[in-house]
Amino acid sequence: MNNDKLLLRALRCEPLARPPVWLMRQAGRYLPEYQEVRRKAGGFLELAKNPDWAAEVTLQPIRRFGMDGAILFSDILLPLEAMGMPLIFNERGPSLPEPLRKLEDVQRLRAYDPSVELGYVGETLKRTAAGLPAETTLLGFCGAPFTLASYAIEGGTSKSFLELRRMMYHEPEAWELLMDKLCDAVSDHLLFQIESGAEAVVLFDTWAAALTTQDYQRYAKPWSQRVFDRLQGKAPRIAFAGAADHLVEELASMRPECVAIDHRTDIARAFDRVGPNIALQGNLDPGLLLSTPEEVASRTRAILEHVGARPGHILNLGHGVFKTTAPECVGAFVQAAQEFRHDTREAVLAPPDKR
Ligand code: CP3
Repeated sequence: MNNDKLLLRALRCEPLARPPVWLMRQAGRYLPEYQEVRRKAGGFLELAKNPDWAAEVTLQPIRRFGMDGAILFSDILLPLEAMGMPLIFNERGPSLPEPLRKLEDVQRLRAYDPSVELGYVGETLKRTAAGLPAETTLLGFCGAPFTLASYAIEGGTSKSFLELRRMMYHEPEAWELLMDKLCDAVSDHLLFQIESGAEAVVLFDTWAAALTTQDYQRYAKPWSQRVFDRLQGKAPRIAFAGAADHLVEELASMRPECVAIDHRTDIARAFDRVGPNIALQGNLDPGLLLSTPEEVASRTRAILEHVGARPGHILNLGHGVFKTTAPECVGAFVQAAQEFRHDTREAVLAPPDKR
């Protein structure tokens, strides 16, 4: 494994001449070449479970734009399917037609061996690694226990999480058993991804911000903390929570190598909030990619100047790419980052990257 990759160096908070860049949801429907493979596969699940196709769509944005990181093409909900929950993807998004509502439902959820039930993920990582440029970092990911619990209980994406709150507040035994099982499933899946070639991992807690800080500490954090602890020293860990300005300190206190920052959070101030030796990922508004390439380039440079020479910045969006994004705007974002140079003493000390 090559530890000199720019993204890995940023995760170690080394001073760099420019930040590495990648985008959440960089593989997907905004790319015509993705649409083509998706049509051939017939469905999203068929695509995600076929290692040749999944590796191909992981590599597509790298070929077109040359991001510094490539994220495995998969979905956070696949481990739930492996645990015995039927899973459907259609035009309106994911749905789990047999949601968990009581203790007996949770008890039926089975443990799995990711190298068997999710073997295709390992195969996708291996095939992707074989096709990646030497300087690109391969990222794995998983949903955090809380966000997976929200899908498992609600049966899909939710706005108010009413069923989740009912179980969380009124059925502590069911809630804790569910979170324990998800915690094991998530840790095992991430360890399997690392064994299969993932060089860093993202834990997506998309819906954590539905909780107040106090409820996050009580009902979600202990299990995310356990996942991070189990991965300690195995690969760098990135903690993501959607639109979660109030949880930035909570995420940092679990001591991941990096915290992902939403576009509504001030990233320069966030460096002080997380403290030394934790990198930050972010934080262009994905909505801005719906403007023009010129606007994207100038707003990207504004973020880089705002961050300044602070080490440990990975440029990304605050959340995933929208499907109506013009590919040229993604290109402008990546190019603005890769052409940027910190005009500082630190930058002079850092070896120039190889691009
Ligand atoms: O490029 C990448 O980011 C890699 C692949 C990736 C997908 N899903 C592919 C996908 C990743 C990292 C995810 C994670 C994921 N999935 C999250 C966490 C990150 C986040 O966005 O907060 C969540 C909450 C999900 C659940 C999910 N999957 C939803 C809500 C949807 C429907 C909305 C949508 O964007 O379509 C999906 C489907 C999905 N996952 C698609 C893709 C490319 C679209 C499927 C298609 O092609 O029809």
